[in-house]
Amino acid sequence: MDYRTYKDNEVDSWTEVTFTYSAALKQVQTKMEILNDEFQHVHRYNPIEHIKARIKTPESIVKKLKRHGYESTIANMIQYVNDIAGIRVICSFTSDIYRIADMIREQKDIQVLSVKDYITYPKASGYKSYHMLVSVPVYLSDRIVDTKVEIQIRTVAMDFWASLEHKMHYKFEGAAPEHIKNELVECAKLVSDLDERMLLLNEEILELSAAEEAAEA
Ligand code: GTP
Ligand code: MG
Repeated sequence: MDYRTYKDNEVDSWTEVTFTYSAALKQVQTKMEILNDEFQHVHRYNPIEHIKARIKTPESIVKKLKRHGYESTIANMIQYVNDIAGIRVICSFTSDIYRIADMIREQKDIQVLSVKDYITYPKASGYKSYHMLVSVPVYLSDRIVDTKVEIQIRTVAMDFWASLEHKMHYKFEGAAPEHIKNELVECAKLVSDLDERMLLLNEEILELSAAEEAAEA
């Protein structure tokens, strides 16, 4: 995003920047919904359970800049805060995550800036999720602004775990009791196990349905 094109007045610029991020977020959300609808149409299956989208609050943008040692300016926020526009795509099975990620990669007007695969390489906390930082062009009346959107793709079970773990972080501000942290690591293992078993079960059910359909035909 080109900061120089913004007006000198910081308040006007702030309004324009947040407007641009929400436009980018809407675009990515619509793209996800279209992919899901089309997938349902072609394969009679919804890879996406639901979508959550949010714009980071000014307070947490300022907090994040401070944490990384940057001054609270609009230029710094655009350059250093990658999750101002954030979208979470929740699906049923681990296989859906990679399917969705591939569909995103194939879109010509989405530029993938970076990927973090915490599914293959979970965090020490037990956190699992697939992160993509992408950029989409937002068409304003007089120019096009490439805008960053953070996409997090995870299963329902991973999302359930992450919400509780986030709540714990928030509550204890990083100083959580050891037994709670350990218990969460244990729960993360249960989540991975559950995801794997549900995936295998789903595959078996699909195979049986396909065999039945073939026999009926
Ligand atoms: P942040 O500065 O926290 O945004 O992290 P980062 O720039 O190192 O990027 P990363 O991809 O690791 O994390 C981005 C986002 O993923 C975070 O803002 C959280 O929403 C989520 N996330 C990452 N790690 C964890 C974790 O251990 N637990 C939970 N609950 N969420 C996490
Ligand atoms: Mg974040």
